[in-house]
Amino acid sequence: MLEVVNVTIGYGKPLIEGINIRLEKPLLLQIIGPNGAGKTTFLKTLSGLAKPLKGHVLVNNIDITANPEAAGRFMALLPQLTTNKQMSVLPISVWEFVEIGARLCYRKRGREVSKEELRNSVREALKYVELDPSTWSKNVWRLSGGQRQRTLIARVIACNAPILLLDEPLSSVDPEGKIDITHLFRELKKEKIVIATCHDPEMLIEQTDLMMLMGRGYYTIGKPSEIMKSDTLRRIYGESIMEFANHIHICDYHA
Ligand SMILES: Nc1ncnc2c1ncn2[C@@H]1O[C@H](COP(=O)(O)OP(=O)(O)O)[C@@H](O)[C@H]1O
Ligand SMILES: [Mg+2]
Repeated sequence: MLEVVNVTIGYGKPLIEGINIRLEKPLLLQIIGPNGAGKTTFLKTLSGLAKPLKGHVLVNNIDITANPEAAGRFMALLPQLTTNKQMSVLPISVWEFVEIGARLCYRKRGREVSKEELRNSVREALKYVELDPSTWSKNVWRLSGGQRQRTLIARVIACNAPILLLDEPLSSVDPEGKIDITHLFRELKKEKIVIATCHDPEMLIEQTDLMMLMGRGYYTIGKPSEIMKSDTLRRIYGESIMEFANHIHICDYHA
């Protein structure tokens, strides 16, 4: 169970104040909002990487804010990838990439893991995201956008954490890959609390159980149908909202 209690996020100055959320069951919570809204900051705060200015994050009644090391037991974070170019100098295979991630997770939990167990976690995760074994020895940075993003998701899945925090998991994925990944979300949210930020709110809408809209120091949370209303969206996106007969378009979901 994840509880966000009166949390104010920000760096020195508050970005958003008094956030309260309580998640008890596996689901997909999608966070939307314009650039600079605080989506990444919020995920970092949930994971214990950033300290809230006020309030507490609790997982199964354990205070992550007071005890950030405890977060690793419950959560795995996929950070926002800003430049693939910087990373691409590292020749690392799909298998190695997932294995290193899993090993770090187990180490953070202070748990020794046998080679066998590690190997099984990696294999299971790669199968879960449906990456063909023929890609497992390939350089991660030579894959298609969709395959690479699946590798990144496999890396967090291999951590076997009940809560996944995914920052822009659909960025730099070609349209075909995006559709595959949205299917993957349908499976993931059956067993985990998945919190994902997304520039394009429409992308994951069918899988989304709860939507959090943030920006301009404000947030609101509700069912997608409640959030995707032009007056609610306009409060955050202002004039970037365009309304058609039965469709709302947000003009500013560029990265
Ligand atoms: N480490 C940091 N120190 C100070 N300010 C930061 C830091 N990281 C992000 N910010 C600022 O906080 C605001 C929110 O950023 P971010 O959480 O990355 O937004 P989003 O993910 O919604 O685009 C931005 O104005 C950004 O410049
Ligand atoms: Mg961000």
